[in-house]
Amino acid sequence: MSPVTRSPETRTTGWWTSQPLRRAPYGEGARRAVRRRRAPLAFAAAALALAGVAVAFTGAARLGVADEPTKVSEEDGARHFVEIARVLQSPRCRNCHPSGDAPLHGDTASPHSMNVSRVSVASGLGCTTCHRSENQEAEHAPPGVPGWRMPPADTPMVFEGLTPAELCARLKDPKKNGGRSPEALRDHMDHDALVLWAWSPGAGRTVPPLTHDALMTHVKRWVEAGAPCPK
Ligand code: HEC
Ligand code: HEC
Repeated sequence: MSPVTRSPETRTTGWWTSQPLRRAPYGEGARRAVRRRRAPLAFAAAALALAGVAVAFTGAARLGVADEPTKVSEEDGARHFVEIARVLQSPRCRNCHPSGDAPLHGDTASPHSMNVSRVSVASGLGCTTCHRSENQEAEHAPPGVPGWRMPPADTPMVFEGLTPAELCARLKDPKKNGGRSPEALRDHMDHDALVLWAWSPGAGRTVPPLTHDALMTHVKRWVEAGAPCPK
């Protein structure tokens, strides 16, 4: 099964965490259990259970990015970016990072109602007139966190309609990214209120295809690899 089709719940055991498990003690333990053919069944079962615990433990340790000992290869880094792009281009993020001047609504990318755009902001109708500092409970009410706005017109930070390779190149272009280094992009995605909002978007809205933790695992590995772009 391709990782792209997995649900958010199972994605934490995707290729980036499961690969190193190939060398985990499970296989060794199992082989040893086979060699001791005359050993009582209980011994084999205990060995397998122990191996299982070891595998689970290794798996948990792999999720901690800080104690990642090996350098992430350029090829793996590029694959991490493909996962990052899936989040950036999902509706909650894309709707504020459109290719045009109007933010988008819903999962269908329809232009914002009431002719809202960078133009309406320039003529005095600020986003925060309707988008307050928290979500409103009713469906179709304007969602909110403090500082609701679009990226500026001179660096519009478009995510919509680009291939992962184009998006990656755009994010790293200092003329188009507001002067952010890959580390600054990482910190922005870790803490920014507008980013975090996407995982509690208010009634009737879907969340991004990965958890925020899974996104940050990919982002950290991508930065560690030197922020390589997919081909
Ligand atoms: C006149 C009120 C009003 C103004 C001004 C306004 N919005 Fe909205 N906005 C809404 C309402 C209402 C919704 C909810 C629509 C729905 O859920 O059907 C909404 C929804 C959105 C969404 C969709 C959330 C999602 O992911 O589906 C985004 C993004 C958005 N607005 C961005 C902005 C930005 C950026 C500005 C300023 C440029 C802005 N809005 C100005 C009323 C407004
Ligand atoms: C309400 C609108 C809004 C939403 C929703 C939103 N963003 Fe943004 N985003 C912005 C604005 C505004 C900026 C520019 C902030 C600045 O430069 O201070 C920005 C900047 C960024 C940047 C920096 C881009 C660059 O080229 O430097 C990244 C990365 C980013 N957002 C990721 C996300 C992700 C990931 C999500 C969804 C999980 C998201 N954003 C959702 C408005 C939004």
